[in-house]
Amino acid sequence: MLNFNYLVSTRVFFGRESLQNLGNEIKECGERVLFVSGQGSIKKTGLYDEIIDIFHQNGFSYDELSGVQPNPRISLVRKGVDLCRKEKIDCILAVGGGSVIDTAKTIATGFYHEGDPWELFVLGDASVKKALPVGTVLTFAGTGSEMNGNAVISNEETREKLAIHKDILRPRFSILDPTYTFSVSKHQTAAGTVDIFSHVLEQYFSPTREAFIQDRLSEGLLRTCIQYGPVALTAPSDYEARAQLMWASSIALNGLLGYGRVSDWATHGIEHALSAMYDVTHGVGLAILTPFWMEHVLGDETVGKFLEYAKYVWGIKGNNHQTVAKRGIERTREFFTSLGMPQRLRDVGVDQNALMTMAQKAVVHGTLGKFKKLGVQDVFTILENAY
Ligand code: NZQ
Ligand code: ZN
Repeated sequence: MLNFNYLVSTRVFFGRESLQNLGNEIKECGERVLFVSGQGSIKKTGLYDEIIDIFHQNGFSYDELSGVQPNPRISLVRKGVDLCRKEKIDCILAVGGGSVIDTAKTIATGFYHEGDPWELFVLGDASVKKALPVGTVLTFAGTGSEMNGNAVISNEETREKLAIHKDILRPRFSILDPTYTFSVSKHQTAAGTVDIFSHVLEQYFSPTREAFIQDRLSEGLLRTCIQYGPVALTAPSDYEARAQLMWASSIALNGLLGYGRVSDWATHGIEHALSAMYDVTHGVGLAILTPFWMEHVLGDETVGKFLEYAKYVWGIKGNNHQTVAKRGIERTREFFTSLGMPQRLRDVGVDQNALMTMAQKAVVHGTLGKFKKLGVQDVFTILENAY
């Protein structure tokens, strides 16, 4: 196990009716609130009205920034920063999924940055120094943004999608009521489940061999996705399934699995290049790419980890290491397909001629990934195979 410094500063209110904590939590952060939301799902479910009522009951003054799109854009972040400065906002409330939360986090730190907020993504994590407090009401299980310090934003002009990571971006509080995810569509539920699954894999396939506790926790989370993803698809209002997925989303990427070992993140790097260029749903891109990444990195030196994965996650037994490892990969592909995810890049409108550009965008620092280092040519091969 490697050394680490573990801080998870988000207060989590989990369960039915946990929205009753919202008023007190906002009071701790200030009086003037920026209410950030997406493209209308919270109006349809009635959550919007409930939140406005809480604002009125507590006498908060608020401004609204709605219309956050999936694969959120820097242009809306700029608007949010201007609004916060003009209205002297004290804190930001994000109500939605990862896109809304990431927009809120970026506005929160953009508020203190003198230049354009996109500079933070180009300059990197060291440029993220201060942020307004952010609270969240989560309506979609997947990214883990509700408990982590990451924000992922797309620049529609440069067709880049970049991330920042800093503990000060962790939400001050997050309200996790699984009933708010009952209305998430089948397709989006499947994409969110794949995203959780992928976050675990990115940390599980690690070059750090001594990580017993992290590995066994990871396998538990993967099995949770396998158990409850299909239930949430067929019975969208199954509380237990939604609750298991929601908590899995948060712990898959709040640091618990990653601290003490080196993580990979190659598949995410490739997917971010894909969704920057083609606006593909994040979980859909991961569902297509993950099995092809696995096939590409499977070799004599990596087969041991694939054996663990096949055995403890899928219950596959056998004496031939390569056969067992390949069966584990196949089960992964079958699981994603059973959730309704496509298998090929050509199915999501990607142009084959764009694969090299995508590979170059994914490999910005010479190599990508830590479990097995990938160069541009490796990534291009994965993309070609996935096409
Ligand atoms: O905009 P609305 O109308 O709310 O609709 C959203 C959106 O269309 C809808 N939705 C959300 N809650 C709903 C609902 N529909 C019905 N009922 C509800 N309760 O779902 C759609 C997708 O929402 P979005 O927020 O885009 O999904 P997700 O949470 O998957 O976020 C994806 C973004 O997060 C980034 C991804 O790259 C992508 O940009 N990621 C962020 C990470 C992080 N901050 O740690 C890590 C991830 O790996 C990921 O990269
Ligand atoms: Zn992800």
